[in-house]
Amino acid sequence: MDIAFLLNGESVTLRDVDPTRTTLDWLRDTQGLTGTKEGCNEGDCGACTIMVADDHGTRAVNACILFLGQLNGKSLTTVEGLAQGDRLHPVQEAMVERHGSQCGFCTPGITMSLAAAHFNGDRSHDDVLAGNLCRCTGYAPIIRAAEDAAGAAVPDGFDPRAGALSDDAGHDDPVRPRTSDALAQALMTSPHATLVAGATDVGLWATKALRDLNPVIFLNGVEDLQDIHIGDDTIRIGAGVTLEKLRGAIAPHHPHFAEMLRRFASVQVRNVATVGGNIANGSPIGDTPPALIALDARLHLRRGSERRAIPLESFFIDYGKQDRRPGEFVEAVSFNRQPDRLRVYKLSKRFDQDISAVLGAFNIQVEAGVVTDARIAFGGMAGIPKRATHVEAVIAGKPWSEATVSAALPAFAKDFTPMSDMRASASYRLKAAQNLLLRYWHEDQGLTTSVLEVQP
Ligand SMILES: Cc1cc2nc3c(=O)[nH]c(=O)nc-3n(C[C@H](O)[C@H](O)[C@H](O)COP(=O)(O)OP(=O)(O)OC[C@H]3O[C@@H](n4cnc5c(N)ncnc54)[C@H](O)[C@@H]3O)c2cc1C
Ligand code: FES
Ligand code: FES
Repeated sequence: MDIAFLLNGESVTLRDVDPTRTTLDWLRDTQGLTGTKEGCNEGDCGACTIMVADDHGTRAVNACILFLGQLNGKSLTTVEGLAQGDRLHPVQEAMVERHGSQCGFCTPGITMSLAAAHFNGDRSHDDVLAGNLCRCTGYAPIIRAAEDAAGAAVPDGFDPRAGALSDDAGHDDPVRPRTSDALAQALMTSPHATLVAGATDVGLWATKALRDLNPVIFLNGVEDLQDIHIGDDTIRIGAGVTLEKLRGAIAPHHPHFAEMLRRFASVQVRNVATVGGNIANGSPIGDTPPALIALDARLHLRRGSERRAIPLESFFIDYGKQDRRPGEFVEAVSFNRQPDRLRVYKLSKRFDQDISAVLGAFNIQVEAGVVTDARIAFGGMAGIPKRATHVEAVIAGKPWSEATVSAALPAFAKDFTPMSDMRASASYRLKAAQNLLLRYWHEDQGLTTSVLEVQP
């Protein structure tokens, strides 16, 4: 595969490269750019953070799970490209002034995350750094540095997007289609190819499981999969929409969904991870499926020119088994516009960047004090994202009262037989799921503070 991109402002063309080689390996082993560190090699620690820019903006991403095949037409900035000559970038200066570094291993990644946020005018430093782990400094000096730097202007001439190429090279390339029509055709020809969207799951198959993923088809250049359409009646989210883009778009409609996405992995992961990937991987602990199921979402699948739409919940047949045929791909997910009664509760051991032990999504419509519709879905409670249909049946048509909620609690045991694992025990999961229904009712009655009210 041939790939062209900019690296610290210089154009690079790679011919006949393995498209699943990671950007981190390539930077360090062939370019000698060792400022970008390898910590975990699985997207967790942020030591490998670089900036990637294109027409869609400038983003911090983890180079360790970013394949070379995802880079065509992009502009990359590594920590070596941050200073201009002898002049440090304001974030670098502030990190020095505020003693934001000790052993220094995490420092390039932290600096790149902060520099991307600085460029974008994003001052939510805690969120920005959720995906950068420092074991020695402690975050206070780093946050002080971020605050200092936020007041400084972007240096003249510093533009990670400058000279970004267009991805024309991929026009008719079946490995790198530009449209969903081309993708449909490529997948019909090569129905067992590995689809790579953001590679935040697939990347680990390469770096940790050492799997050969070829043949691959990259989805990140398929522009029409990246649209969000907010219509009068429906909201349709393309499979290629990143979680970070979804977070912004969904906030006015379902703010609790957006708030949960703030805790989905890290900025670096959300900047590339897609909605389609989060659904298609079939994980029982994916965070978006329960929320989307509670919204009564439909999944749009395509195989060649054939399209079908199914209730999202029916896509998940069993652990590791989805209703997806060879040659078929996820095109979009959609749901009706509706009054916002959605609450999404993510329970994990850490607040930031942690996989859910339990995730509960509740969408209970109430008219004149009576439950007219109830959709409740969970992650982490079964081998698939799953509705609590027995619980729903108990409360449907009943007065929306504490007595109804209490009467529904035993039904959780009919819906779920959760497992015990390193994240939580079965009994914790069952109890937590019951308590989340109680919490939803208490918040709805204004008897306790909701997540959004306590948010800084
Ligand atoms: C550090 C870290 C933290 C994470 N934290 C979370 C978290 O908090 N919550 C959570 O839910 N997940 C989390 N994840 C998992 C991952 O980020 C998500 O599942 C993500 O949404 C996957 O999207 P992707 O675009 O990267 O998918 P990819 O890795 O590119 O693909 C995932 C799977 O979906 C398939 N696929 C992708 N797009 C399509 C399509 N359009 N049609 C058909 N098949 C397709 C791929 O072939 C593959 O099987 C985390 C991952 C990492 C590395
Ligand atoms: S090396 Fe840890 S996120 Fe990349
Ligand atoms: S300074 Fe040592 S890991 Fe952060």
